[in-house]
Amino acid sequence: MRRVIIDTDTAGDDTQAILLACLSDRLAVEAVTVVAGNVPFDREVENAKYTLGLAASRDVPVYEGARQPLAKEFEHATYIHGEDGLGGDLFPDTDIESAAGFGPDEIIERCRANPGEITLLCIGPLTNLALAYAREPELPDLVDEVWVMGGNVNCEGNVTPAAEFNLWVDPDAAKRVFDAFEVTLVDWGLCLRDAVFGPSEFETVSAFDTELASFFKSVTEKARAFNSDGPNDPGWTALPDSVTAALLAYPELREDVSTYHVAVDDREGLTRGYTSVDVNGVTDGEPNTRVVESVDSEAFESVMYSLLRSRDP
Ligand code: BDR
Ligand code: CA
Repeated sequence: MRRVIIDTDTAGDDTQAILLACLSDRLAVEAVTVVAGNVPFDREVENAKYTLGLAASRDVPVYEGARQPLAKEFEHATYIHGEDGLGGDLFPDTDIESAAGFGPDEIIERCRANPGEITLLCIGPLTNLALAYAREPELPDLVDEVWVMGGNVNCEGNVTPAAEFNLWVDPDAAKRVFDAFEVTLVDWGLCLRDAVFGPSEFETVSAFDTELASFFKSVTEKARAFNSDGPNDPGWTALPDSVTAALLAYPELREDVSTYHVAVDDREGLTRGYTSVDVNGVTDGEPNTRVVESVDSEAFESVMYSLLRSRDP
């Protein structure tokens, strides 16, 4: 089993990634660290704990991390995920307490105690990891792998044309992370191509009639409405964080992976947060990032279906 820490701005699809990781027999989730991103920070913390409760994983400690980006003003995305990040269904707060300790410090301590053993699954802005690296410059040698959902290889951002949300929230942190770590990247464009659930997939999920399936429909509802053209269009949603967790857990889903030089644009201006991916090898930059370029979509669907069908987490 691969040992992981999940770094998350828990809302919407983050919850599914956490469920998948906790319920998969391929991953051992050792901790969850929360970072400012999708919705107001305290809500994200509650969402993470609620999701762990749902996954019968109350023993996984939740550490609160950065409440805001390194330098940029914090702007969340409640306009996509709803005020609570769970589709507006206001799932109750849990009785699970946050663990004592600051998220970035926990990442450091756990990697120091288990050198080369722990993989970081980063499905939110990269503030926590950048802070951890600033405090422990040896961290790139202490982690096993670093998986990041974020960025966009082909300049098809979802906040600006240049920037995907996780990079856009904290481009300064992202630059530090990509400059220091050998990242495995799952970018937004890949998710749009290979990890989208639309009307027919939601029909399949509706038939499952399980607690997890109804949770899945609720937490993705606002995003689906956001992506709808009209009142009768049930919309679609990409599953970027779940597919990243699935790709980590199930290597057989990775159809194509290439290593490129990736640089993050942290300058003010139109392209702030852009991931420049040197696909054609036209710069002198050393290849530093493994970019997943193609996913076995059907196999991913099957992973999601078997997760959502499970009645007894
Ligand atoms: C990413 O941004 C967030 O809204 C999602 O949780 C995902 O991590 C997609 O751009
Ligand atoms: Ca996320």
